[in-house]
Amino acid sequence: MQLTKKISEVRSLIKQWRKEGLSIGLVPTMGFLHEGHKSLIDRAVKENDRVVVSVFVNPIQFAPNEDFEAYPRDIERDSKLCEDAGAALVFNPEPEEMYGDEFLTSINMTKITEVLCGKTRPTHFGGVCTVVGKLFNIVSPDRAYFGQKDAQQLSVIRRMVKDLNFDIEIIGCPIVREADGLAKSSRNTYLSPEERKAALVLSKSLCEAKKLIESGETNADKIITAAKKLIESEPLAKIDYVSIVSWDSLEKTDTINGAILMAEAVYIGKTRLIDNFITEQI
Ligand code: PAJ
Repeated sequence: MQLTKKISEVRSLIKQWRKEGLSIGLVPTMGFLHEGHKSLIDRAVKENDRVVVSVFVNPIQFAPNEDFEAYPRDIERDSKLCEDAGAALVFNPEPEEMYGDEFLTSINMTKITEVLCGKTRPTHFGGVCTVVGKLFNIVSPDRAYFGQKDAQQLSVIRRMVKDLNFDIEIIGCPIVREADGLAKSSRNTYLSPEERKAALVLSKSLCEAKKLIESGETNADKIITAAKKLIESEPLAKIDYVSIVSWDSLEKTDTINGAILMAEAVYIGKTRLIDNFITEQI
């Protein structure tokens, strides 16, 4: 496996692989890799001849008050995980390599970026689309892999690919969880032992909601209220949002009808965590 910080080196390897007729999969990440990321890499390795994993904590998707500086980083451990999983290349650029000292262009999406996480993080998805668009142009993969953990991101990327005619298949992968149900996240490392326990209200409240749906409840408000009640019973938790929208238009829906996404963001202490479920295959 190779590791590079240079766009030019990625491009020349890709050129060589294309000459050999090899298919290419891309797994974009911000690093500090865990089993969730690994599930994407594993799937990409199965479905492509060569897999590129990008590891880049993308400054432009963080607002000034967010955790860009504190975001955990460990490129040595990440490279080993990628190599063991069968990736061919890790692309780990510095911010200057991606944005230089004067970067004037960005990809901005409206509507579906203005709901759910986009309400609290209004500049976030512009930063995500811009960096993912750049990675798509640098790597030009056949397929790119994204987790349902960030369901809105998956929907936004699919929309960007459709709207801007990227010739790339977007593969959505299921959420990988800890044994007790907490969705794996690089940000879980911020949690104290007490907060780690409290964080279970996310998956528990979604389980409760799922049960209600399975027992025939179709009123979205009732389901949201039940989930909120469970979260509010945890003193360390503070709700950002709990929403039910249609998948994958992300439009608000009052009744459970067809594929829906139930998503939530909850602060556990200072750490903002997200989780969700979708009633149909992604
Ligand atoms: P990051 O948070 O590192 O996540 C990289 C990919 O791993 C995303 O597609 C995310 O949905 C997926 N992932 C994270 N936790 C997961 C879990 N528990 N189960 C399954 N998949 C999981 O998302 C980003 O980075 C960035 O926004 C990025 C797309 C790289 C752009 O900077």
